[in-house]
Amino acid sequence: MLTEKTLLPTRPEHVPLAVFAHRLTAACAVAAEVAGLIRARQRQGRTAVLGLATGSTPVRFYAELVRLHREERLSFANVITFNLDEYRGLTAGHPRSYGRFMRRHLFDPVDLPEAQIHLLDGAIPDAAVDAHCREYEEKIRAAGGIDFQILGIGRNGHIGFNEPGSARASRTRLVALDPLTRRDAAGDFGGEEYTPRCAITMGIGTILEARRIVLMAWGRDKAGPVRAAVEGEVTIQAPASFLQDHDRVQFVLDHDAAGALTRHHPAWRSGARENHDSAPARRMIRRGAAPGAEIHRA
Ligand code: PGA
Repeated sequence: MLTEKTLLPTRPEHVPLAVFAHRLTAACAVAAEVAGLIRARQRQGRTAVLGLATGSTPVRFYAELVRLHREERLSFANVITFNLDEYRGLTAGHPRSYGRFMRRHLFDPVDLPEAQIHLLDGAIPDAAVDAHCREYEEKIRAAGGIDFQILGIGRNGHIGFNEPGSARASRTRLVALDPLTRRDAAGDFGGEEYTPRCAITMGIGTILEARRIVLMAWGRDKAGPVRAAVEGEVTIQAPASFLQDHDRVQFVLDHDAAGALTRHHPAWRSGARENHDSAPARRMIRRGAAPGAEIHRA
């Protein structure tokens, strides 16, 4: 007879995951991996190229990088950064711009040389947007490509501002923001009517060229989009699902963000626990990510 368990013949997760009891521990584990990359490149006399995200999700991650700089002498002198996106119409000095966010949370407190910071210019004139986007892509290529891309995920499954409907091959470009994205941002702008309607974002194709990608997600609001990205079909309706195509991607989640995954289905649980190993997860364990982490294989 078919039981519920026999109806789950293969592992439904299509990307490697690390699930942590606490988001702070999770953010520190990701920071430890990034710090390891920066230090390894320093020893080799090479740069480390980071793709950076904004929003509430990576705040603790940046705080840990700043702590490592202050207390453990992590230098950013060899780091080159490219930010994922920026609201259209906001100058770099606007209090809600992602440029300001980055200066507050990472750039100002560390020794990252100004010339190595790359931000999209939300206030560029309309006629210059396409050239600005092309130049951004060229700068990424000239830097040798992105070594480590940090991502969050929107409640609609977006990565960067690649909203549902974004093509897998999309590059850095001007996009219209999804109504849900604008609603989620409205609090920051004092109401939806004041929230930007457009943004400039790296494309999904741009993101997928990064050599390592870590997507962080915390809280129940992210459980649905995380499940769609991890277990669902690859579809333009769930832009984060395109990450399933990447060889070195990992989702780093807290329990709440992992809460909708099939592994938490009672019939699946017993089997799922036996098989918790993967190369990315083992690397995180070696880098000190193990305490509090349950690591499972894709
Ligand atoms: P959040 O946004 O970190 O503020 O939740 C994530 C995203 O929209 O990518």
